[in-house]
Amino acid sequence: LAEAPVVRDAEALRVTITAGPTREALDPVRYLSNHSSGKMGYALAEAWARRGAQVRLISGPVTLAAPTNVERVDVTSASEMLSAAEQSAAESDIFIGCAAVADYRADTVAEHKLKKADASDTMTLTLVKNPDIVATIAARSPRPLVVGFAAETRDLERYARDKLTRKGMDMIVANDVSSAGLGFGADDNAALLLWHADDTIERQALPAQAKTDLADAIVDRVLSLYANRAA
Ligand code: CTP
Ligand code: CA
Repeated sequence: LAEAPVVRDAEALRVTITAGPTREALDPVRYLSNHSSGKMGYALAEAWARRGAQVRLISGPVTLAAPTNVERVDVTSASEMLSAAEQSAAESDIFIGCAAVADYRADTVAEHKLKKADASDTMTLTLVKNPDIVATIAARSPRPLVVGFAAETRDLERYARDKLTRKGMDMIVANDVSSAGLGFGADDNAALLLWHADDTIERQALPAQAKTDLADAIVDRVLSLYANRAA
């Protein structure tokens, strides 16, 4: 088993990470969300902190405890996550969007519990798109180095390249969430890293491994991109 690096090679870097799902209220007792466990984002926070970075973890509702030496900011909805992210990004060197942000929210949140209608067996919800947090941070000037994730069930590389470019990220971590035992909720994950280098997009495939090990491999690559950017 490989030993986790104890090198403090991220000292003095300020890193903001979003993690977990968001919850979008429908009424006082119901919400829309997804199955994100937060494990990948928390593993990244742990790795950065262990390597000496000053870490702020903006977390949606998950059952995990904050890693040692990590400042955790709890949020619920995508719009709360966006406000916290914008504040934190202004004082960060690196921003990592690992959260599974709900793509849509209810256009209006009912003030009282929604009641079943006797007259109809169906119900229609009108949803509106949430702001894109990673893209918003990437559009700031000045801005931190921006890393995003992509969870896909098919055409992994094609969709990930598209997200990397469209959202103005510096790097993307693409996960195939259709493989058994990997991705959402699992302890292991594989990833394809894609990043801009001059006029091309470079790639590195990271094989299936514990999310804690994967986190260190991602930190390695981000540190090398950050060093090139600063140079
Ligand atoms: N993301 C974000 N804000 C959103 C939606 C996504 O910051 N409102 C970020 C995620 O944290 C991730 C990246 O964008 O870093 C890609 O998320 P993903 O759900 O894979 O992509 P989407 O652009 O939402 O596209 P789709 O779900 O349709 O594949
Ligand atoms: Ca999405």
